[in-house]
Amino acid sequence: MSQAKENAALAALDFVEDGMVLGLGSGSTAEIFIEHLGERVAGGLKIECVPTSQQTADCARENGVPLVDIDRVSGIQLTVDGADEVDPMFSLIKGGGACLLREKIVAHASERMIVIVDNSKIVEKLGKFPLPVEVDPFGVALTAEQIYAALRASGCENGQTVLRQNKEGTGPLITDGGHYIVDCKCELIPDPAETAHLLDRIPGVMEHGLFIDLSSVVIVGEDDHARVMELKRE
Ligand code: 5RP
Repeated sequence: MSQAKENAALAALDFVEDGMVLGLGSGSTAEIFIEHLGERVAGGLKIECVPTSQQTADCARENGVPLVDIDRVSGIQLTVDGADEVDPMFSLIKGGGACLLREKIVAHASERMIVIVDNSKIVEKLGKFPLPVEVDPFGVALTAEQIYAALRASGCENGQTVLRQNKEGTGPLITDGGHYIVDCKCELIPDPAETAHLLDRIPGVMEHGLFIDLSSVVIVGEDDHARVMELKRE
């Protein structure tokens, strides 16, 4: 286990309060957070959690973290999730674990989103990590062409699209929501808001991995400590 991820996950526990409904992100860093959350629950912390993937739900159950159906909560106070890239404005690329649609639904519904990453995820400009886009299987080739056009029109250096395959190598990866993932090799995304805007207009796109203006706190794990960075949003 990476000590940097562990330090970021531990620091995020300070933001959790009794009585909260929490959104639980997906991925290895989020799972470390869930493991520690389980220890706090065993110690008496009272929370209810909304998972953003099947894998996260399984991890929460294994660690004794109580889950609640997203349709049964009246609000989510805090979501803690990982990311694949974080820029200076806390714009993110997410979806490396193929959970971006549910992650975005939960983050958007939350009063606050905290991102936990190790320092390798901090970048000046987004785009080196291939941008995941969740698409409907119907017409996927046409949708991929439109995605490529949108990326180029918004100034991305590249835009080559690749349909993500499942681990077994037997076909396209299917998300928890029954969709495909198209990974886009952008190299550089000079204007994430414009790219997001153009992708949002493509009917076959269920959601994309650009998370803009959603998180106000980023916790960066280093080998021996964690840095908590906060952005004041109007
Ligand atoms: C899943 C995600 C993850 O949060 C992201 O891929 C980071 O994962 P990890 O913590 O394993 O590096 O967006 O869809």
